[in-house]
Amino acid sequence: MLTRRSLATLAGAAVLALTSAFPALAEPIVIKFSHVVAPDTPKGKGAQKFKELAEQYTNGAVVVEVYPNSQLYKDKEELEALQLGAVQMLAPSLAKFGPLGVQQFELFDLPFLMNGYDDLRKITDGEIGKGLLAKLDDKGIKGLAYWDNGFKVFSANSPVVSPDDFLGLKMRIQSSKILEAQMQALGAVPQVMAFSEVYQALQTGVVDGTENPPSNMYTQKMHEVQKHATLSNHGYLGYAVIVNKAFWDGLDPAVRDQLDKAMAEATVYANSIAKEENDNALKAMMDAGTTEWHELTDDERAAFVEVLKPVHEQMADRIGADLIQQVYTALGTTN
Ligand code: LMR
Repeated sequence: MLTRRSLATLAGAAVLALTSAFPALAEPIVIKFSHVVAPDTPKGKGAQKFKELAEQYTNGAVVVEVYPNSQLYKDKEELEALQLGAVQMLAPSLAKFGPLGVQQFELFDLPFLMNGYDDLRKITDGEIGKGLLAKLDDKGIKGLAYWDNGFKVFSANSPVVSPDDFLGLKMRIQSSKILEAQMQALGAVPQVMAFSEVYQALQTGVVDGTENPPSNMYTQKMHEVQKHATLSNHGYLGYAVIVNKAFWDGLDPAVRDQLDKAMAEATVYANSIAKEENDNALKAMMDAGTTEWHELTDDERAAFVEVLKPVHEQMADRIGADLIQQVYTALGTTN
């Protein structure tokens, strides 16, 4: 029979076995994980989960320092910092890979492409998702996983119920040419801006409106400075978790295995909470009562689809007509 003492000895032996699988390190390996959103979001919580699991599975040989809310770097700078090795890990929005020269990720920005998370999985979990991550290798970056956020709502200080309502509105976008084309199709004036600057830009009227999944809108308090919002679900916003490739390849394989395991579990976790986080954020904003929310009727939705669907063909050269076709095939749609 196992006594309390023999159990303790066994546990100690297990820890020792795990530790001895790793090189003896005087100092822990530090992974700086920088991101631009609040801790209380799908990405913020995913990063925290990865930290906990990575430190646990490596028995402290790896320490993950999470820097949320653009504390270290804003959108564009964080990608440069990753390539320079100033930080090791990021999870940028898929809309932000254009400046790196991997603009194919912008396919996720195509308006009215997906009907919910099941469609998303058909892209991220299949060959297309794998192929996109592999394109990062040449840039000194390794793609590890896709993390979900959610489907976007339009917001502004005037009603945004029909495409005509966007005429002349200055709309903040992420740095994606697809999103630029989308806003132009609506007659709006797109303005690329770092995420950390959006609240103030909305508050001071530098821009009139924007688009976000509810979790981002709520945690940045944008609903306090946007009088109107439309539940348009016109597009998706999510992430690729990426690491500096030289750093990752240079890790001891035993350490890397444990980090892979931590990442796989953190990914399952992050993707399991994303929808609920967005649903809760939406409810909290509705309860706050600072924004008037509009739910599209079928006809109103059809009017947006008619104006925005042509963006797919218009941007085929940028993403690749073949790739777009592969996406349609994976989704079982014709366009
Ligand atoms: C944005 O800039 O709106 C988003 O990409 C922020 C984020 O990381 O979710």
